[in-house]
Amino acid sequence: MTIYYLGIDLGTSRTSISTSTGKRLTTRSCVGFPKDLISSKRFGNRPYLLGDEALDNRLGLNIIWPLSEGIIADVDRALESTGLILKHLVAESIPDKKPADKIYAAIGVPAQANLKNKKAIIDVTKSFIDKILIVSEPFAVGYSLDKFDETLIVDIGAGTSDLCRIHGSLPTEEDQISIPKAGNYLDGLLESKILSRYPSVQLSKRIITNIKEKYGFVDRASDPIIVTLTEAGIPKDYDLTDVIHESCLALTDAICESIQKLVASFDPEFQAKLRNNIIVAGGGSRLRGIDFAIEKSLKVYGGGKATCVHDAEFCGCNGCLKMVLEVPESMWDSID
Ligand SMILES: Nc1ncnc2c1ncn2[C@@H]1O[C@H](COP(=O)(O)OP(=O)(O)OP(=O)(O)O)[C@@H](O)[C@H]1O
Ligand SMILES: [Mg+2]
Repeated sequence: MTIYYLGIDLGTSRTSISTSTGKRLTTRSCVGFPKDLISSKRFGNRPYLLGDEALDNRLGLNIIWPLSEGIIADVDRALESTGLILKHLVAESIPDKKPADKIYAAIGVPAQANLKNKKAIIDVTKSFIDKILIVSEPFAVGYSLDKFDETLIVDIGAGTSDLCRIHGSLPTEEDQISIPKAGNYLDGLLESKILSRYPSVQLSKRIITNIKEKYGFVDRASDPIIVTLTEAGIPKDYDLTDVIHESCLALTDAICESIQKLVASFDPEFQAKLRNNIIVAGGGSRLRGIDFAIEKSLKVYGGGKATCVHDAEFCGCNGCLKMVLEVPESMWDSID
């Protein structure tokens, strides 16, 4: 009998996994169910498609993004979809699993996931996970970096930005803030700003996200950002430098406000240490210049130092994997 240890980052836009056998996998956190009999036929009678494959075929599918601000979204089939995503990733990451083998997993969830959400995740995974630990995602990021002294983790995801103070023990509720301003919010802002400047331009959610991921920046200088888009089907070049910059700044301003709240309510003796030990993680940490923008906003409060993680995609699930390998028996969540 082999025990496989897994760290899983269950995110709004992506779910990633790291295993004790050295595998790393990631998928978009969405499931597509065929719309009708014809689409079902087209997809070879498969009951669902997952991740990018579902998105590439979205015209024939009802796409469910089961995780949102409150973690398990209030949409039809959300719980079932969460289970399908996790089951598929687990099976793919351990292709040689035998029936007697066991799977122990730590799953990182947004900081504000409540007891009901945790119970729902346990229920939906108990047929394929034998022992489970549900951890706060930003704490898992800190754990992956061995950051146990005064550190402030800022995890900028898709649905939420999760902030967590770490100070040598497990964080409590007071140590964490979650705001619904993150990648999706930035996409929305960018869309409305582009449309108000160029009302006839044709956009889709994917186009907007691609523009953000490729060109998003919060530092001062940028070469002009000229993007080819279409108007009534005809390609044209559009200057998006200012709209991109303004949208990105609106997000970082909101995040910096929350950083300041967590610093201000901390033990005054350690506030300076916290301000000088800020770790930025999550997909949003890839916004060019975000560490610089955070440092700039902290200048009025006495300065600070922010660093972006090197491995934004896997650092959360690596932390979960490390926890699952190290935590004592008493910390595991109950499956029964
Ligand atoms: N280069 C980039 N620049 C800006 N944003 C980016 C970049 N790459 C990815 N993102 C954004 O980061 C977000 C996804 O981040 P991440 O994978 O950490 O989220 P998640 O963990 O799925 O979400 P959550 O933590 O909210 O549940 C998306 O909005 C994505 O568009
Ligand atoms: Mg995340």
